Amino acid sequence: MRLHIVKDYEQLSSKAASFVASQIIMKPDSILGLATGSTPLGMYQNLVKLYQEDMLDFSEVVTFNLDEYLGLDTDHPQSYHYYMHTNFLDHVNILRNAIHIPTGNGDINKSGKEYDRAILKAGGIDLQILGIGSNGHIGFNEPDHILKTETHMVRLTKETIEANSRFFSSREEVPREAISMGMGSIMQSKKILLLASGESKAQAIARAVSGEITTVVPASLLQLHSDVTIIVDEEAAKLIN
Ligand code: PGA
Repeated sequence: MRLHIVKDYEQLSSKAASFVASQIIMKPDSILGLATGSTPLGMYQNLVKLYQEDMLDFSEVVTFNLDEYLGLDTDHPQSYHYYMHTNFLDHVNILRNAIHIPTGNGDINKSGKEYDRAILKAGGIDLQILGIGSNGHIGFNEPDHILKTETHMVRLTKETIEANSRFFSSREEVPREAISMGMGSIMQSKKILLLASGESKAQAIARAVSGEITTVVPASLLQLHSDVTIIVDEEAAKLIN
């Protein structure tokens, strides 16, 4: 694991954008695995800026998002479809049919299998971008005694519902279930970029980087991957020893 500790969120966002930009420059038809949440927002803003300045071309890029809530329409302001389009995809020249986001409605078992087949057919993910939950989750792969390899339906933990309630008007409105890429597609990605900012992530980052490898800290499994880059700010790095 390569660990970069930067001063603050602003530096994290520009370093992460540079990392993704170099991937696209080196391989214009990169298959990117994308994450939502507050952490990658600044990175997306920087990528949009690079596109607007004619420094980046997304015309051959293909994307697969990690997850989506169950039961929200795609135009719901808290859906990850909405997030991705409004914060990033609508502002760059990516082709509409190159965008893949798990669908949170209908037969999840069936759409999960189709999602995994689409990832395989595309040739697998070149670069997977990940945030981390304060409980160590990646995607919506929540701490458990087993982890699933395939794209699957998940029941969100109390901790995740609590953490994500800041985006909704009340805790009750947060969906209890989601669809998430499993550990299989994540671990089979050629490269992984993990981002974390702020003190609330410090314990999860310390356990991911140097704790025991355990399904109760899903991010700790990344220690088994051969090409992981972690960019964290000083606050998120403070419990790494
Ligand atoms: P955050 O979420 O970026 O909003 O902190 C990360 C996650 O839960 O994976």
